[in-house]
Amino acid sequence: MIRGLILVVALLAAPPSPAETDATTGLIIAPGWEQVRVHCGGCHSHALVTQQRASRQAWIDMIRWMQETQNLWQFQPGVEEQILDYLAANYPPAPNRRRAPIPASLMPGSQAQE
Ligand code: HEC
Repeated sequence: MIRGLILVVALLAAPPSPAETDATTGLIIAPGWEQVRVHCGGCHSHALVTQQRASRQAWIDMIRWMQETQNLWQFQPGVEEQILDYLAANYPPAPNRRRAPIPASLMPGSQAQE
C-alpha cells in the first residue's frame, strides 16, 4: 500500500520523458509530424529539417525559398498550417549553443608575448 503510494508519487514527480522520435527520419513524433515526413524528405534528408531551429516566420521564409527556387510544391490548404505548427513547436529557435570565445591568453602563440 505504502509502496504503491511511493511509486505513484515518484511517477508524478518524474521529469517529462524526452520527446519521442521516429527511428527512420529522426523527426520528433508530435501532431503534424507525418506531414513533415511526407513532404520534407523527398529532396534532402529529414536531418536537414531536424538540425534546423527557427521561428515560425523563419520556417515560412525557408519554405517560400524552396518553393521559389528549389521546385518545392505548393501545399494543400491546411497542410502548410500543420507543417508550420509542427516545425514552430518542435524546432523553435534555440539559445545560442556556441561556446564563448577563447580568451586570447589561451590561444596558440600567446606565450610568445611573455
Ligand atoms: C522539392 C525539393 C525540396 C523539398 C520537397 C523540400 N526541400 Fe528543403 N531544401 C531543398 C533544397 C534544394 C535545399 C538546399 C539544400 C542544400 O543546401 O544542400 C533545401 C534546404 C532546406 C533546409 C536548409 C536551409 C538552410 O538555410 O540551411 C531546410 C531547413 C529545409 N530545406 C527544410 C525543408 C522542409 C521543412 C521541407 C518540407 C516543408 C522541405 N525542406 C522540403 C529542397 C526541398
